[in-house]
Amino acid sequence: MQAFVMTELGQGGLANVEDPQPQDGEVLVRPVYAGLCGTDIHLFNEGTMLDPADLPLVLGHEFVGEVAGGDASASASAGLSVGDLVVAEPLVPCGTCEQCLAGRFNLCSDWEHLGITRHGAWADSIAAPVRRLTKVPSGVSARDAALAEPLACAVNFVLDRGRLAPGDTVAILGAGPVGLLCAAVARGAGARTVIVSEPNEGRRKRALLVGADVVLNPLGEDLEAVIERATEGRGADLIVEVTGVGGAMAQAITAARPGSTVVLAGLNSGADVPIKTNAIALKELDIRGGFASRAAMGRALELLADGKLRIDPLVTDEFSWAEAEAAMAKVASDPDTCKILLTAPNHIQK
Ligand SMILES: NC(=O)c1ccc[n+]([C@@H]2O[C@H](COP(=O)([O-])OP(=O)(O)OC[C@H]3O[C@@H](n4cnc5c(N)ncnc54)[C@H](O)[C@@H]3O)[C@@H](O)[C@H]2O)c1
Ligand SMILES: [Zn+2]
Ligand SMILES: [Zn+2]
Repeated sequence: MQAFVMTELGQGGLANVEDPQPQDGEVLVRPVYAGLCGTDIHLFNEGTMLDPADLPLVLGHEFVGEVAGGDASASASAGLSVGDLVVAEPLVPCGTCEQCLAGRFNLCSDWEHLGITRHGAWADSIAAPVRRLTKVPSGVSARDAALAEPLACAVNFVLDRGRLAPGDTVAILGAGPVGLLCAAVARGAGARTVIVSEPNEGRRKRALLVGADVVLNPLGEDLEAVIERATEGRGADLIVEVTGVGGAMAQAITAARPGSTVVLAGLNSGADVPIKTNAIALKELDIRGGFASRAAMGRALELLADGKLRIDPLVTDEFSWAEAEAAMAKVASDPDTCKILLTAPNHIQK
């Protein structure tokens, strides 16, 4: 089959590779759409999360595709048939460690990850464990379902880790694809006021389109003052940081109101960040991390099936996965780019 294969740091392209061989409990899936995620770009250019021993590697971990064979009894017991449209949770937990047994699959101590530690979805087909696949409900398009994986992360950050309740006010720092999905989830979950902080003007406009009430530019405006104004002095119940920028993490803690929750989910800066630690104690802040998701995929798909989420404004481009390198370059060079979907070559829109 053909696939986009990373061969070395910053190098890869279309190549012929052996067809994947599904193991017991696995099926073949033919990807229809695959999202390009910041993690793919960091992995490709900087080797983040990559073990060089896994090269050459087929990239791609956010995908929707059609079941095309494999372990028939495993798929039958999961209610899946050939031709079904499925999405994947790409982190494959061991299922037996203490974290897995406690249901914290995303904190598994012995995980694999499609498109990171084993072959991914920018390919004619991928072998994926049935237990990590969910059937896409009827009425949800493949194009929308392509965002189900990052949407499940947003559900985790806003609803599970953030415990947002209807009527709450939330501030989201960062309006990249993940921040925009967080804003859409908060709006869909009945937040009273959704405030989004983002320096990129085009992304601020997208935030309004997905359901934010108030947007601000943190480089020219004071986050705390804007939150105060938007909440008649009360402050936000929840702040979700999805920038990966150290300054924004510090800002979240400064701007949080007493007794509120701050979810830090941004990655990649790896920086040491100066934080006003007294603020955490004096305001009794609930500072919580957010990583991937657990048990959130079903709710992400339900939100899509409800038709209440406005996620279309996220997607700015479609490329064939064979052109993944050009797609990654566009993210770096064009500030108007937001979420890019990669399609199977010659794919027919569903
Ligand atoms: N924890 C997880 O499981 C998980 C999952 C997916 C993504 N992430 C991380 O979440 C972050 C967001 O992902 P993305 O794909 O949307 O990335 P992105 O880089 O497209 O978005 C980050 C946004 O933050 C904005 N920003 C920069 N400085 C800011 C500031 N001071 N205040 C407010 N906004 C600011 C940027 O302009 C950008 O639009 C990244 O760090 C990513 O690595 C984490
Ligand atoms: Zn991703
Ligand atoms: Zn485990």
